[in-house]
Amino acid sequence: MTTATPAIGQALDRVDGRPKVTGAARYSADVPVPGLTYAYIVGARIPSGRITAIDTSDALAEEGVLAVLTHENLPRIAAQPPLVPSLAGTAAPGQTFFPMQDDIVHYAGQQVALVVADTYERAQHAASLVRITYEETPSVTTIDQGRDQAYEPERIFGGFLPGRIERGDAEAGLAGADVRVEATYTYAANNHNPIEPSATTAEWQGDELVLYDATQGVNATQITVAQLLGIPLARIRVIGHFVGGSFGCKAMIHNHPALAAMAAREVGRPVKLALTREQMFTSVGHREEQEQHLTVGATREGRLTAIRHHKLSVGSHFDDWAEPSMGLSSQIYAAPAYEGVYRLIRGNTMTPTFMRAPGEASGMFALECAMDELASELGLDPIELRLRNISDHDPNTGNPWSSTGLRECFERGAARFGWDRRTPEPGSRRDGNWLIGTGMATAGYPVFSPVNPQRARARLYADGTAVVQAATPDFGTGVATVMTQVAADGLGMAFDRCRFENGDSDLPTIAAAVGSSGSGMISAAVHSAATALRNQMIARAIGDPGSPLHGAAPADVVVHNGVMTAGASSESYTALLQRCFQPDAEATGSWSPPGPGAEYGMLTFGAQFAEVAVDAELGLIRVRRMTGAFAPGRVLNPKTARSQLMGGMLWGLGQALLEANYMQPGTGRWANSNLGEYLVAVNADAPDVDVELIEVEDLVVNPLGVKGVGEIGQVGVAAAIANAVHNATGRRIRKLPMTIEDLL
Ligand code: MOS
Repeated sequence: MTTATPAIGQALDRVDGRPKVTGAARYSADVPVPGLTYAYIVGARIPSGRITAIDTSDALAEEGVLAVLTHENLPRIAAQPPLVPSLAGTAAPGQTFFPMQDDIVHYAGQQVALVVADTYERAQHAASLVRITYEETPSVTTIDQGRDQAYEPERIFGGFLPGRIERGDAEAGLAGADVRVEATYTYAANNHNPIEPSATTAEWQGDELVLYDATQGVNATQITVAQLLGIPLARIRVIGHFVGGSFGCKAMIHNHPALAAMAAREVGRPVKLALTREQMFTSVGHREEQEQHLTVGATREGRLTAIRHHKLSVGSHFDDWAEPSMGLSSQIYAAPAYEGVYRLIRGNTMTPTFMRAPGEASGMFALECAMDELASELGLDPIELRLRNISDHDPNTGNPWSSTGLRECFERGAARFGWDRRTPEPGSRRDGNWLIGTGMATAGYPVFSPVNPQRARARLYADGTAVVQAATPDFGTGVATVMTQVAADGLGMAFDRCRFENGDSDLPTIAAAVGSSGSGMISAAVHSAATALRNQMIARAIGDPGSPLHGAAPADVVVHNGVMTAGASSESYTALLQRCFQPDAEATGSWSPPGPGAEYGMLTFGAQFAEVAVDAELGLIRVRRMTGAFAPGRVLNPKTARSQLMGGMLWGLGQALLEANYMQPGTGRWANSNLGEYLVAVNADAPDVDVELIEVEDLVVNPLGVKGVGEIGQVGVAAAIANAVHNATGRRIRKLPMTIEDLL
């Protein structure tokens, strides 16, 4: 397909669509490395204690078994790096604990042995023959078991964020309020279930290591494994051409890539370590079980006086990790006082991790349900209450927003949804046996920037095609498509003459695409490389007496479809390169993110609307339709952006009604560890999902003004649904997911 520039803003099809739907796409577990062997994990059967004996003789005696690694023979790691979110450009282990270094068991499912064999089936069978004797000690895996031992961490999230956020006097603000709403919200734990379970194939080529890894950041895998194994960065190459979804479980680097590398070194052959679906529940982090206690106070006119937001959640024995649920609740409204406090329980679980809208989705459920209650108490329309509390600056710092759009999201979302047809009186609308209700909530998501500069390279060939390269994988979001668009416009070429090459740590460095930062940071690097190359070609033509453009002013030259034109004169990139006997030309580009010195608040804003039907006798909740309006800065490709947002909204539906896991006290095992019992939203659950994109200009966040769409789609959905359930039934449900029992 030939498209006229600009390609940015066009709803182009995905460049990787065909290989993905035809099966030609090669994922990390599909790479046909010669001499490949297969590793299978044995997980601990107890949640707490130690291994008193481990007998591997039966496993080793099986045909085809090459090695059984346990704490008795696995080499020690070089150093356990500190847990730092992967945007930092440093090692980003999923937890500061590496397995099989001693005999202690901290959680059920913890890797205690790794069997390597010449086929997958032989490895799996031999794993069942490893005989382990344990001495079990008491465990804590739930909030109810650990409530008394909760502590207040100084910092959370790998030390990245403070354990407390305060401004103004929340106590006084609440005491002086005319109206107060106070409630506790509870949340089941959630697990990631991308279509592709995590997998790593490791191959040593001499003392160089090649890893094919399902990851959100090839450089994050590279840096983390280098540090764990104690080898130089330059000796590790990480390749991840196709990644089948992630939603956060491939953002931090969990133990299996390093284990695969260690196993491959041990057996002297390449090793594939692919997690089973069940192992995904104990190997790649999760969204923690939590409880949030929220108090909001307001004046009679509906102006917030204070917000108090406390959270209690179950973390691990090693790390003070809580998903940051208070960033948004502290920033989204103009309350003069705020108090946010995290409390943690040291549980016998692995360290929780990022999971789509980590913290924002759970925190905004509490705040936006409380705001709905407050609107009812005040007799105000829920949108009107929010409009009265919009802040024109970041209330935590006083800095202006880099861009906003929240008011437009309310207005346009409400118009599309038909909010004016709502009847505010709960239980006032019926459709046969179904009670009908509508609800809304505010959405938001921070605009994160990586710590290090982001780089890309652009290369133009004399045949009139171009390749733009950056290390980043595309884990299903459409990055490769969107970056081809950005490259085409930067170069002044047609979309179909450009290609984006990615998913390889040998290419210019890009941070892990986490926190909805991918489109912003990668487009910044790609745009910078592409425009640098265009400017180089223009300068070349202008300076070349043989070019028709010789002597033109650079500012007068426009490039379109690979042809540079100034007034009546023109020359194509191809003609210039041919004439100069030059097969190609190249430029690199780099973007340094706005650091802490950027005096702006940076948030993406949105609004969510839902209509539900509730059968109060059967306790059934059905979402009939949803509308989301979002202001993500510039929209690079409305098709991929809409898909991301729609996917996020359906995740929100899953969070509201379906997704749940529970650790069984005593065994410390997840009750649901397969896709039959861990429920995710499927097509049959999906209502009509309407997405409105509101473009706002942002001159601060990055060169193209892209704020990101990956996660905001989920934020606020569960609250909009809960508020709709209240409108339908008069019942306030303060628990996620909301299930049949909650309505009976
Ligand atoms: Mo996203 S859950 O921050 O990878």
